[in-house]
Amino acid sequence: MKKVAYINQKIDSFNSKINVPGDKSLSIRWILMASQAVGTSIAYNLLKSEDVLSALNAIKKLGINFKINKKNCEIYGKGLNGFRFKNNTKINAGNSGTLARLIFGLLIKSKNQIILKGDKSLSKRDFSRVIKPMRMFGQNIKSKNQKLPIKIKGTNYPRPISYNETKGSAQIKSCILLAAMKTPGQTKIKSIPSRDHTEKLFKYLKLPINIYKEKKLDLISYNGIKNYNGFNYIIPGDISSSSFFIVLTLLSKNSKIVIKNVNINKSRTGIIDILKIMKAKIFLKNKRNYNGEHVADIFVKSSSKLKSINCPVNMNSRSIDEFLLIFLVCAVANGISKFNKIGELRNKETDRLKFANVFLKKIGIKTKVTKDSFKIYGNPNLKLSKTYKIENFDKDHRACMLSFIAALTLGGKWIINDIDSINTSFPNFISLLKNLGAKIN
Ligand code: S3P
Repeated sequence: MKKVAYINQKIDSFNSKINVPGDKSLSIRWILMASQAVGTSIAYNLLKSEDVLSALNAIKKLGINFKINKKNCEIYGKGLNGFRFKNNTKINAGNSGTLARLIFGLLIKSKNQIILKGDKSLSKRDFSRVIKPMRMFGQNIKSKNQKLPIKIKGTNYPRPISYNETKGSAQIKSCILLAAMKTPGQTKIKSIPSRDHTEKLFKYLKLPINIYKEKKLDLISYNGIKNYNGFNYIIPGDISSSSFFIVLTLLSKNSKIVIKNVNINKSRTGIIDILKIMKAKIFLKNKRNYNGEHVADIFVKSSSKLKSINCPVNMNSRSIDEFLLIFLVCAVANGISKFNKIGELRNKETDRLKFANVFLKKIGIKTKVTKDSFKIYGNPNLKLSKTYKIENFDKDHRACMLSFIAALTLGGKWIINDIDSINTSFPNFISLLKNLGAKIN
């Protein structure tokens, strides 16, 4: 694939219906759960991106077979104790933080040492967040500075734990829940709310999970060991991928889009609530259920009178992957937007707070950044005419795709590097943009 894209003009008005690929969080969770089910599981609309292929390769290394074709993916699970743990098996999680964190849970009883690796960006990220609870279960973990590569050996006798999850991280919560599945006794998690796909999938499979929602905390418990049968699953469109097209439409003139069959799980729709507060024209229609998850069609119209936001902190986890796009909208909204307690953005594929600050300054927007807060001084009259070169973003797929949306809506000449990073989550992103009329070279 080409590594550089050139964009020299804004996108013309469009009025279109699109589908985005399957949700990445659900695709990875389905693979991990199907790999431990008894018998065949089939998924429809599985995302075919690099992160998801890394998950399929990971289960293969653990002795689980799969078949993937255009229409669906089949995984032939062998139950909770069905993995093959060959000594010093290397599992490469590529760029995927979700796979790398969740797989610790799958390996809670691995009889031999497994070596977990990742790409350059993932190898810079912190793993203490999962090492700590996994050691409490009794897992043996060897790492330098709590970073990849990490050597993991399980225990025959995992102990149930009680854990306070204070970052609002679904990856930590899900890793603990996957370990709890193979641990006798009751595991308890007190967690700041975060995306709840794992819990929903457990409920769909009738696994012994209990969730009690307090005002600001979720109390989750999982009891004992229970095998489950292979299952079929339809994966709805990814709200995070949809968000690039939502913002593209909002910031383009006289345009409309319908994005069909998108997962609208409440723990993921912070961006829609935030943009609506900012007076964006977004509507959800045709709401329905797929396998215990909510789905809808998203209708969006160009919105020129956008207002700034003082973003409520309870939106942070609900829009964690969409902040770069939200910041772009704030750049052209009327007024000063404020975000607090968003330090977790510094722990993503790149330091997204640093990236956003450099990016907005580059396009002439005044900002103020601290360790975990951000202020954006919006300019509704922003018009760009210079040349903007986007590079050095640790190949963060979302930083890369954000640059396309800025280029197509704000004008100027753009040179965007490392566009192969997009394959991490959204391989047909550029072809969808071109179908809407975008000129990209
Ligand atoms: C994810 C959780 C989030 C998110 C990531 C996917 C998941 O990370 O940023 O892209 O599928 O569980 P954290 O749980 O670390 O916030």
